Amino acid sequence: MLVRRCAVLLMEPRETSEFRFELLLQGGDGVARTRAWYALAPHLDEPVLLDGPAQAWLGTLSAQTWTNVEEGTAEAEMASGLLGHGLLIAQDDADSAAALRDARLRGVHWHPLAAVMHAFSRWDGVDAVRNMQESETETAEQMRQTLGEPPREAPTLAEAGARMALPEVDGNNFDALLARRVTCRNFDPDRRVPLSLFAQLLQRTFGSRTRFKVGEDLVFLKKNVPSGGGLHPIEAYLVVQNVEGLEPGLYHYRGDSHELERLVTDTTIDRDFVMQMVGQQHWFADAHVLVVLAPRFERTFWKYRQHAKSYRVVAMEAGHLSQTLYLAATDAGLGAFITGAINEKHIERALQLDTIAEGVLAVCGFGWRAAQMTTTELDPAGAVWQLADA
Ligand SMILES: Cc1cc2nc3c(=O)[nH]c(=O)nc-3n(C[C@H](O)[C@H](O)[C@H](O)COP(=O)(O)O)c2cc1C
Repeated sequence: MLVRRCAVLLMEPRETSEFRFELLLQGGDGVARTRAWYALAPHLDEPVLLDGPAQAWLGTLSAQTWTNVEEGTAEAEMASGLLGHGLLIAQDDADSAAALRDARLRGVHWHPLAAVMHAFSRWDGVDAVRNMQESETETAEQMRQTLGEPPREAPTLAEAGARMALPEVDGNNFDALLARRVTCRNFDPDRRVPLSLFAQLLQRTFGSRTRFKVGEDLVFLKKNVPSGGGLHPIEAYLVVQNVEGLEPGLYHYRGDSHELERLVTDTTIDRDFVMQMVGQQHWFADAHVLVVLAPRFERTFWKYRQHAKSYRVVAMEAGHLSQTLYLAATDAGLGAFITGAINEKHIERALQLDTIAEGVLAVCGFGWRAAQMTTTELDPAGAVWQLADA
């Protein structure tokens, strides 16, 4: 049998601990600690527990060339287990699910560490609100109490020379706009966003100004945000909840043509779906529009192959889009938000993404602010909210 190792694999020695009362009675600290090797292979959805011999043997196999394993040997037995997990690929079984995903991973040119990081930092079914409650980090006061002293809000440099005051510059409209940019956690579900404002925000944030055609199949889009290599890999998928003239549901915004396309999906887009998207953060669930920032990694990695910086670059681009959306929303009198506490796998399933070539980095959103602040927003200067004592 000819086999080779999957393309990308990171071995992690993990220590897990479990409280056992009998250990306490025996005079110990009551904690049983177990150490084991886990294989993190991004073409698989879960880490795989390996024993020492299988882990050591896997490390001797090439991921490029095929190795012959003789039937009836100890290696053949290990190979059978590793094939079952999808960590080994057999040459004569190129159509297995693991082989197909491994082949896809090879074709998309991920940097190996980025591929592992991305694959294993995705959530499914996580309740971020409950996690904050259980870890007693829900409010700023609780955080200080639970986490102790934080690093200071601004660093004091050990080697800095004398400080030099810089001129204060008079604010203009742009400063006023920046001052009103406050993450919105209070949306008004009783008011619809006009289609014209919705279209304006999408065009300003995700739309293309011009096309620049280099060859038949190499086209660059010029947008309002910068993008590594000018490749603009991040797509905007929308959960429309409350926009005039639009049926609620899942859409994709085409930045190249400023068009909206409705997604054909079996997924029911209801409040439960949205709450799962945003890790149960109910304060975002009433947003009139939620925008999934979903990179097509393969577009950036087409140029920056196995590049140590390419995943970082794509992640930074999500920040540019988010800030532009915040400012476009603020300019239109709307509130906006971004959240990283999202259940990516839940969203990937609904959008039917090819999870090796595409993914989800964050969810943004926008809509009308509610009249009352129920969930805290950070507006100490009262730029958006009338403070009670103002
Ligand atoms: C990448 C990113 C992720 C964030 N994730 C969350 C989140 O999960 N939940 C949330 O309520 N706010 C989230 N925020 C918003 C921040 O809490 C907010 O920006 C911060 O408190 C400062 O408030 P301001 O945006 O109003 O200045 C996120 C912000 C950024 C930039």
